[in-house]
Amino acid sequence: MLDELLSRADVRAAQRLHSVRDARRVARRKLPAVLFDYVDGAADDEVTMRRNEDAFAAVAFRPKMASGDTQPRLGVTVLGKTLDFPVLLGPCGLVRLLHPDGPAGVARAAASKGTVSVLSTVAGSPVEEVAEESRAPVWFQLYSAGGLAEADALSDRAAAAGVEALMITVDTPTLGNRERDVRHGVAPPLRLDAHNAVPLGVQALARPRWAAQLAATGIKLSRRGADPSEHGGGLLSSVASPFSWDDVEHLRRRWDGPFLVKGVLSATDARRAVDAGADAVVVSNHGGRQLDGAPATLRVLPEVVAAVGGDAEVLIDGGIRRGSHVVAALALGARAVLVGRPYLFGLAAAGERGVERILDILRTEMRRTMVLMGCSSVDQLGPDWLEVPSP
Ligand SMILES: Cc1cc2nc3c(=O)[nH]c(=O)nc-3n(C[C@H](O)[C@H](O)[C@H](O)COP(=O)(O)O)c2cc1C
Repeated sequence: MLDELLSRADVRAAQRLHSVRDARRVARRKLPAVLFDYVDGAADDEVTMRRNEDAFAAVAFRPKMASGDTQPRLGVTVLGKTLDFPVLLGPCGLVRLLHPDGPAGVARAAASKGTVSVLSTVAGSPVEEVAEESRAPVWFQLYSAGGLAEADALSDRAAAAGVEALMITVDTPTLGNRERDVRHGVAPPLRLDAHNAVPLGVQALARPRWAAQLAATGIKLSRRGADPSEHGGGLLSSVASPFSWDDVEHLRRRWDGPFLVKGVLSATDARRAVDAGADAVVVSNHGGRQLDGAPATLRVLPEVVAAVGGDAEVLIDGGIRRGSHVVAALALGARAVLVGRPYLFGLAAAGERGVERILDILRTEMRRTMVLMGCSSVDQLGPDWLEVPSP
């Protein structure tokens, strides 16, 4: 009964979202401040996070009028998988805490909208549980604080759970300085303990609905020293994962399926990833959460695309908040994009329905942008559709 009321409330809340910005506003209202800041924040002065968004804002489109095509084709294949439109849900920590629908709800939402989500090692739910509960295709992003032995074990579990593709994140040899988390007394990494339990308890009481929902899911909030390989045994937001290129190559050799390397920001590293056996590279600065001062991802995309040539697929994330941003990224050579915060805000605002709504919004915006530009298919996009100011 309560479940039904809550899910109807989510349907209504989702219908009221008309942009990613709306979802952010509702998420801020619904989440305890510590969780909102965990999602919304980035490293140090958050310069790189802003750069990501500013780079998209600086792009100008060069439309071709009177093309007459109002049904542009948005479908793509990514690593052999056909997607209805080129937006994937990127790997994110603590998804489990944002809403009871959690990572399984995210995977279902992605599948229902014709795309796929990537489950993070530290999302808060075991990969087996997400695969089983969602009955949706899952890709898995691997972190390992415990070296290669732990990484191998996680990769084996992912394979056994039926994960379709493995992603290795290479930009987290140590954790970025997320000052908003530090100020809440929970970093790094974000974790509940005796010192912060009282102030965080007060924050949770200020969001009784969130607290009640979470209590209903029976999640264990605290486990000092929890091991991420236990997934969800504790509340670990992220974990330093100092992979070398040799490690990446090793993991590639052991993984029988599509393999992605996430977190490259230069032609040189993109080539290294390809040489290590990556089928796809993700141009990413972790949404500005790692090295503050790193360049906007859109700025380095062309150099990566040129370096990789046809040897691997190139994806990008960071700062995508509108369908028009997806169009810009594709025009500069990305095959598809990933989003992080947009769907986390959607999840916090309205659960699985909120994630679906965000995907609908991005797709609708993307389609409208294509029609207004006079472009009938994503295959036709190229740099000539844009004006990009020099850095
Ligand atoms: C709250 C949060 C948690 C994240 N956790 C992970 C993670 O566990 N593994 C990872 O590879 N990237 C992680 N990321 C980075 C995202 O996968 C992605 O690169 C980034 O969010 C893209 O930028 P955007 O949020 O502007 O879309 C996280 C991002 C956020 C916002």
